[in-house]
Amino acid sequence: MAMDKYGKEQVEKGVGFEGDLLGTTPANLAALQAMKDEAVSAGGPERIEIQHSLGKLTARERLDLLLDEGSFEEFDMLKTGRTSHLGGGRQYLSDGVVTGHGTIDGREVFVSSQDFTVIGGSLGEAHSEKISKVMDHAVRTGAPYIGINDSGGARIQEGVDALAAYGEIFNRNVRASGVIPQISCIMGPCAGGAVYSPSMTDFTFMVEHSSYMFVTGPHVVKTVIHQDITSEDLGGATVHGRKSGVAHFVLPNDILCLREIRRLINYLPSNNKQKPPLLDLRDPPDRTDPTLDYLVPTDPNQPYDMKILIYSILDGAEFFEVHKQFARNLVIGFGRLGGQTIGLIANQPTVLAGVLDNDASVKGARFVRFCDNFNIPLLCLVDVPGFMPGPDQEHGGIIRHGAKLLFAFIEATVPRITVIVRKAYGGAYLVMNAKHIGADINYAWPTAEIAVLGPRGAAEIIYRREIQSSDDPAGLLAEKESEYRKTFLNPFIAAKRGYVDDVIFPRKTRSRLIRSLQVLEGKESERPPKKHGNIPL
Ligand code: HXC
Repeated sequence: MAMDKYGKEQVEKGVGFEGDLLGTTPANLAALQAMKDEAVSAGGPERIEIQHSLGKLTARERLDLLLDEGSFEEFDMLKTGRTSHLGGGRQYLSDGVVTGHGTIDGREVFVSSQDFTVIGGSLGEAHSEKISKVMDHAVRTGAPYIGINDSGGARIQEGVDALAAYGEIFNRNVRASGVIPQISCIMGPCAGGAVYSPSMTDFTFMVEHSSYMFVTGPHVVKTVIHQDITSEDLGGATVHGRKSGVAHFVLPNDILCLREIRRLINYLPSNNKQKPPLLDLRDPPDRTDPTLDYLVPTDPNQPYDMKILIYSILDGAEFFEVHKQFARNLVIGFGRLGGQTIGLIANQPTVLAGVLDNDASVKGARFVRFCDNFNIPLLCLVDVPGFMPGPDQEHGGIIRHGAKLLFAFIEATVPRITVIVRKAYGGAYLVMNAKHIGADINYAWPTAEIAVLGPRGAAEIIYRREIQSSDDPAGLLAEKESEYRKTFLNPFIAAKRGYVDDVIFPRKTRSRLIRSLQVLEGKESERPPKKHGNIPL
């Protein structure tokens, strides 16, 4: 046996099965155990120590925390890479990624976990074949796939084969999209084209200070645009959780991150043919909350926290928020009503008055599409003064981005329910799951203001001439504004037309929603046959 630079014994003729281990003699069983031990020891104690010193768990430790205790069944532990074009490369059992399946609260999931201690978790042919195998199993058996990423990217020594290997995974990401939930967890480097696999999955988790994602790293940035920037500032978890929206969830460490993935899985069905699992949180469906009658302030310009309403109506006040720090003017996430998972989309009056802008539109649209893919009913809580005005938003494509949210809602065939809490103005009224774009049941609170424009804008336009020629323009504007408010800004005109199905007592919102979900349980919706729609990307 030779020793490598870390003092670890190397099998001189490569690793693994050497052709003379046939039979179950004690010696052969011991040899088999030795091979497995070697696979488990991965890159060796020193590299594992480095991993721990960076606050990171190893690939196997991560799977231990992610999956129910003792449920992990490993595939391809004895698989190795075939060759190394640049020579000098040692072959490792498992080839830098641990793959297999296990359960989360008793439900089967398929997993891969890249092992940075083995050739930097880099991805070559064998590594990719292992990931592809579990992804194929996940699709065939209808179970979610969770990929833990901690990798230096394409294995440089394998050249174009490593690039081809990424292509295999990308293909599978797209084929599995909308069939099984796919979750990515970034727990180390994820650079170059490697970022595109996580970004095509449904949800991306990142860990603060130990993970980063970018298409070109700080070196290239310096060379091309002469800017100094750290990996953290360029593509750390905070940046992707707040600014780019690439990360749906940001957690402070590996342990909390893996626990959140387990929570998420609990809200989701295993595949697109199933409904999400029912979970009875023992919260009475007819529970009322009298404080909701006073949630909306009398001053229409005063904000209130939409999350008070969200936590009040959901079973057990449990809300699993998605994209918590990104586009906070729109709140999205999962909760349960009467035990059933729902996808919630709500304007947040405390942030930018709950206006819809580019980021909020894209955030909402992708979430709506996910819920529709996986049979999760949609609940929309509306308090929206409109779309964000101004050149920044217009030039940034608010027409395209707003259209995404509109398209996504109209396309969705799952049960769709809306509650208009306060403002619902103009195009944003329609986009936020109005009756006219196919929502099934629409309610309004007595505080709802459903109109084409807000009172000031409306009065200024309608009475411009009178106001201009008035001796007291400010007084006349205020008078006309008040008149408009009394005439138009209520839910009753919409109720008369049947555009809202009822004006409800805020305190009874929860029970009305639960009954609505029950009645929509068997909803069927026909769509003309087509390959796919052309959402304005
Ligand atoms: C082969 C790699 C590797 C890679 C790391 N290693 N990345 N080996 N291919 N891509 C090896 C290192 O040689 C080292 O081996 C061990 O992994 C640990 O790496 P270190 O550099 O010591 O770790 P650290 O200092 O933490 O730096 C991590 C790193 C750096 C920032 C990720 O390793 C790095 O920059 N790697 C290259 C990143 C890269 O450019 N990848 C290609 C991206 S493009 P030893 O034996 O010395 O310990 C891409 C295209 C995808 O991936 C295309 C899809 C279409």
